[in-house]
Amino acid sequence: MQKLIIKGKRELSGKISISGSKNATLPILAATILAKHVSLKNIPLVKDIFTMVELLNFIGLKAEIIKKKNIIKIKNNEKNINTLAPYKLVKTMRAGVLVLGSLLTKYGKAKVSLPGGCAIGTRPVNLHLFALKKLGAKIKIKDGYIIAEAKKGLKGNTIKFSSISVGATENALLAASKAKGITILKNCAIEPEIIDLILFLKKLGLTINVKGRTITIKQSKIKSTKIVHNVIFDRIELGTYIIASALQAKKHMIIDKINPNLIKSEIKILRKIGVQIIKKRSSIIIKKNKKLKKINIATKPYPGFPTDLQAQLMVLLTQANGISKIREDIFENRFMHVPELKRMGADIEIKDKTAIIKGPTKLTGAEVMATDLRASVSLVLAGLVAENRTIINRIYHLERGYEFLERKLKRCRAEIKRI
Ligand code: UD1
Repeated sequence: MQKLIIKGKRELSGKISISGSKNATLPILAATILAKHVSLKNIPLVKDIFTMVELLNFIGLKAEIIKKKNIIKIKNNEKNINTLAPYKLVKTMRAGVLVLGSLLTKYGKAKVSLPGGCAIGTRPVNLHLFALKKLGAKIKIKDGYIIAEAKKGLKGNTIKFSSISVGATENALLAASKAKGITILKNCAIEPEIIDLILFLKKLGLTINVKGRTITIKQSKIKSTKIVHNVIFDRIELGTYIIASALQAKKHMIIDKINPNLIKSEIKILRKIGVQIIKKRSSIIIKKNKKLKKINIATKPYPGFPTDLQAQLMVLLTQANGISKIREDIFENRFMHVPELKRMGADIEIKDKTAIIKGPTKLTGAEVMATDLRASVSLVLAGLVAENRTIINRIYHLERGYEFLERKLKRCRAEIKRI
């Protein structure tokens, strides 16, 4: 099993370019089922994307990754379509459940494995199924599979989600794409990745309007011409490298291929902590920090502070002066990184949904274990700032979502290697 070894305290300098967003690419890949011919650009070469491409090929599309160019080409010649997403492909990557909306609306049926739980919580799909039922689908759960049917097609409706879910909003959008009439989705997630999916669906010919948390989809004819789409940058990867820079920049670090306007709340919070950030049009400069200050925050759906940056922010707060608090409001069990950070010397206590971080503490290298994608990268950040050597086990989690992590950090003088 592969491990990462990091020799800490190396000062970082240089430039990091941000990859395309994994969480935008995944739903757009699910949406390609609706199209005839698609070329997706700026896709990140990470495990979850490879798994989704495998799933599309299993379904019967012809999806091919051109690694050198970070492009995926997808063709659907409508031959031998299999409306099934098997367990082996959905179990490692929850976003597999997103093919449900596309398959059901286009082919009138779908059988998709229930994604099951994962390290950060139970992660149910009740909101996804609620929306599909409201559009007229008949759904049953059998042998671990969601079996959905809409023999006469789906029908537009007004649907109000009881709580905000990224995946449920995406699945409902995909299902509504061919539903008769008008669908109004209320209390939606409006993450930039969802806006990118909507942009893609509009290129397909759909009429979609977003106002606050309400999304309206009007039935329209889907184009059969080739669609080219450039996936947006990964704002979580960006946030991760801003924090790495804040922790270890020699003088300053440049991070480019981004749009700083999409991470306004993150910038506001990081500046409050004392991180010096200069915004440019498509890049950002992080200066070596002077003194970091404590903060109290809670994770929230976009435009709030993302749960996917909670673990990384916690590492930064171990270096801030005073007692900080982070309340995790999205997932019930997303503090798995805390025991590992404590083994490296962090002073963190958990009370219900809140982590209480006392800082600043000197971190020292240790052998630690990655538990999920974002927890893993928080251990990398801790390793960069810690004294001596940190060994991170189970790094396959990192490969699910961070393109060229070692290469990007090494270029900025970090001492990091894989064994
Ligand atoms: C997506 C992101 C993930 C991010 C999360 C929250 C992708 C591929 N993944 O995950 O990186 O951490 O958004 O920003 O884009 N819930 C229900 N019932 C449902 C669905 C969700 O109760 O049917 C709950 C979840 O358990 C969780 C909360 O809603 O507590 C938010 O989850 P959701 O927004 O759906 O996350 P994902 O789409 O799975």
